[in-house]
Amino acid sequence: MGRLALSFALAAIVTTLVHGDSCAAPSQAVSVYRSFNNGAGDHFYTTDTAEYNTATANGYFAEGARFSVFPTATTTNTTQFIRLFNGVITDHFYTTDQAEANNAAASGGYAVENLSPMYIYTTQLCGSVPLYRSYNGNATDHFYTTSQEEQNGMLGYQFERIAGYVLPLAASQPSAGSTSPGSTPNAAALPSNTPNVTNAVLRIFPEVSFSITQILFTLGAVLL
Ligand SMILES: *[C@@H]1O[C@H](CO)[C@@H](O)[C@H](O)[C@H]1NC(C)=O
Ligand SMILES: *[C@@H]1O[C@H](CO)[C@@H](O)[C@H](O)[C@H]1NC(C)=O
Ligand SMILES: *[C@@H]1O[C@H](CO)[C@@H](O)[C@H](O)[C@H]1NC(C)=O
Repeated sequence: MGRLALSFALAAIVTTLVHGDSCAAPSQAVSVYRSFNNGAGDHFYTTDTAEYNTATANGYFAEGARFSVFPTATTTNTTQFIRLFNGVITDHFYTTDQAEANNAAASGGYAVENLSPMYIYTTQLCGSVPLYRSYNGNATDHFYTTSQEEQNGMLGYQFERIAGYVLPLAASQPSAGSTSPGSTPNAAALPSNTPNVTNAVLRIFPEVSFSITQILFTLGAVLL
């Protein structure tokens, strides 16, 4: 019984270390605004409302705040969500993978845009949720969403990976649906989207089961 009690005490300490003290306050996170240029086939994400407003005044549909990220590099456990842009094919591309960013810059025609940097988790910590990344090769458009339902509804977009983990919008923040009048596509109404769940489910499931296995294994190791 003493060992069991000790195990629980240890688990509590570990939990506090991982989920308590090291988590940045959600209030430090800022909203990411999404806009979409149907003609160019480009989804654009920024935390800078001035930049967002400029985009939406120039051919991008306002799609509102979608999720939250951290604006500073010092946020524990976060990595920069590097932003790149290819002006020839008009594609904004975001990745936490420095090697992938280097490669896109070296041979993909992309340039790093270090504007209003975003920092996100690369593992699911601190109340974060997966940010799904997909790509439409015909439109040369990278698309990111925290909604698996929306992800599955994007016709022509292939699920690529979980780009990282971001915070959901706080209840007080503008909702995802807040598009300006006359601007269009709300997520549900985005052009040319059709469901194909297969890939996303197949690729997400192993990660979920892995986490559960890890937890069970850790519990077992501590208790025995
Ligand atoms: C998060 O950061 C803490 C403090 O630096 C570190 O101990 C922990 O291993 C990190 N967790 C992950 C999953 O990277
Ligand atoms: C891309 O365009 C080609 C030719 O129009 C079409 O056959 C193909 O299905 C499209 N692919 C996607 C993913 O939409
Ligand atoms: C969904 O994608 C999978 C794998 O790419 C494919 O085998 C399947 O036919 C697709 N289903 C639909 C309904 O398009």
